[in-house]
Amino acid sequence: MPEITVNLPNEPYSIVIETGVLSQLGERVSPLAPHARCLLAMDSHVVQPHGEIARQSLEKAGYEVVPATLIAEERHKTLAAAESLYRVMLHARLERRSPVIALGGGIVGDIAGYAAATFLRGVPLIHVPTTLLAMVDASIGGKTGVNFPLHSLGEANDDGLGKNLVGAFCQPRIVIADPLTLQTLERRDLVCGLAECIKHAVVADAALMEWIDRHADDVLHLNMDRLTELITRSASIKAKIVAEDERERGQRAMLNLGHTFAHAMESIREMDVRHGEAVAIGIHAAAHIAVESRRMLAAEQASLLAAIARCGLPARLPHAALIDRLMYAMTFDKKVADGKMRLVLPRGIGAADVVDDVPLELVRQAWLHIGAAE
Ligand SMILES: NC(=O)c1ccc[n+]([C@@H]2O[C@H](COP(=O)([O-])OP(=O)(O)OC[C@H]3O[C@@H](n4cnc5c(N)ncnc54)[C@H](O)[C@@H]3O)[C@@H](O)[C@H]2O)c1
Repeated sequence: MPEITVNLPNEPYSIVIETGVLSQLGERVSPLAPHARCLLAMDSHVVQPHGEIARQSLEKAGYEVVPATLIAEERHKTLAAAESLYRVMLHARLERRSPVIALGGGIVGDIAGYAAATFLRGVPLIHVPTTLLAMVDASIGGKTGVNFPLHSLGEANDDGLGKNLVGAFCQPRIVIADPLTLQTLERRDLVCGLAECIKHAVVADAALMEWIDRHADDVLHLNMDRLTELITRSASIKAKIVAEDERERGQRAMLNLGHTFAHAMESIREMDVRHGEAVAIGIHAAAHIAVESRRMLAAEQASLLAAIARCGLPARLPHAALIDRLMYAMTFDKKVADGKMRLVLPRGIGAADVVDDVPLELVRQAWLHIGAAE
């Protein structure tokens, strides 16, 4: 059974990846967070059947389970959603030792994680990711948070979501990933997870990119052995980078490849992109800048685009938003100084750099290249 350790100096934890492990949730959690009661925060789309399996297992291990349901949509990933969990926890008289168990995709993990980080100044958190994206990325590394809508700012172009503008670091006690839960996931959401796997390959592991290219079809057909292998390889990359730089003071920033573009896209309602799709398009934009600035060979960009296509991911904007709006949305993610921006740029496939002085003109050109309107 694959088990990865996130080797943080103060609070190391395991990522367990195994088909069927959801039914052992209670026995896995109880030694790490012993208490009479727990909060089970569930994505509304996984209450049946996965939530029921989780609840039964937790009860078998002796927990009284307090259930809560969250809607996994970016416009609901707000402080109000975290508040709804605080209310349930207060009503049930949950205490400082009562664990919060987040069962769902990245949205539920981020909201429930933020509630766990802040309720009573922090309660134990357990991640039980049920999307590929959350298994390989969102559940690992302790970033939690919610969006903060920009309409409160009273500026022009301010209808955006304000992606992840409010948050906290909160490492889980354990991550339990059961690939069988992916059987109920819509194909579009499964495909989204492949974007973060491609990101991990681009920044750290050229062989993983070849693997994805070769086995993407098996993964999309839910071959459990292949899925388990992909989750293990991809999660290991994230775990290693996080262990070396928990608070993103150095190389963890590499994992933001494509994300400054992605967050700007996600901020624009009409764009209608999921996070993984936005990441794939954003990686394409970053690769374009890398090729233009002679950091990456055009042939490597071509094989990256082939892998994105093989996975069924988009590489261009689905809606031709105005470039000025996209550039404005980007400034909430990254500071612009002296006409330059800090971005992660690939140095071929398998390595990347954080570059502090990317000229804004190159960023504009990249947006136009992926389909923005002037
Ligand atoms: N904290 C981090 O480090 C981190 C990293 C990457 C992404 N994120 C965040 O994660 C979010 C994206 O996560 P995601 O791609 O998992 O999307 P998601 O949480 O929106 O889930 C996608 C959809 O799948 C449904 N779903 C989840 N599991 C299911 C299952 N097993 N069966 C059927 N339906 C299921 C959800 O209800 C939702 O409709 C974004 O908000 C992003 O900002 C956080």
